[in-house]
Amino acid sequence: MNILTFPSDQELNEAGAGIVTGLVQTNPGAVLGLATGSTPIGVYSEMIKSFRKGMVSYRRVSTFNLDEYAGLPREHPQSYYSYMRTHLFDHIDVPESNIHIPDGTAANVREECERYDRLLEQTGQIDLQILGLGHNGHIGFNEPDHALIRGTHAVRLSETTRQANARFFNSIDEVPTHAITMGVGTILKAKTILLIVKGSDKAGIVHTSLTGPITTECPASLLQTHPHLVVLLDTEAGRFFG
Ligand code: GLP
Repeated sequence: MNILTFPSDQELNEAGAGIVTGLVQTNPGAVLGLATGSTPIGVYSEMIKSFRKGMVSYRRVSTFNLDEYAGLPREHPQSYYSYMRTHLFDHIDVPESNIHIPDGTAANVREECERYDRLLEQTGQIDLQILGLGHNGHIGFNEPDHALIRGTHAVRLSETTRQANARFFNSIDEVPTHAITMGVGTILKAKTILLIVKGSDKAGIVHTSLTGPITTECPASLLQTHPHLVVLLDTEAGRFFG
């Protein structure tokens, strides 16, 4: 595990984007696992800057997003599809056909999860999986539980997660109660995992996740078992690390 702490948001974002663009420069057909939430927005902005400078092309890249809200159509401004268009896809040259995000409106959720897992399998191993961290230790939408599911599945969102995400909606009632998420088994299969954590409110959970017991009650703690984990922290999130 390689934990890097940055004194400024800008430096962290540039470092994160540098890891992604470096990979795509050496492997133009790379498979990227992408995350949403406020944390990776700055990294995506820096990736867009490098793209605009002509340093990298995403024409042959495939992307798989971690999760999507259940019940939100793609066009909904808070769907993760809309998020990805706004913060990354509309500004780089990744072809629409290479973009994969679970369909939150699928009539048959189980079939949608199976379809997503089949696609992941056909595309091959994810080369680099970007992850944020929930306040309760969730990764993707794998919430703390007595057991976790390996593949893509539907989840009921915890109240803390719904409250944390309510800031993006008009009211808590509008926050979906369920989501579709990649499972921890798929996340852990990625060749490299890039965990990005910012802010003092996550200092405790990131420290517990990376140094505490490995338990499904803190899904991010399973990342300790990954052979190629890179963690980018800002000074606030990293304050419990020596
Ligand atoms: C969300 C997402 C996660 C994300 C996490 C933290 O609910 N499903 O993928 O990492 O919560 O979000 P943020 O970066 O906004 O704090």
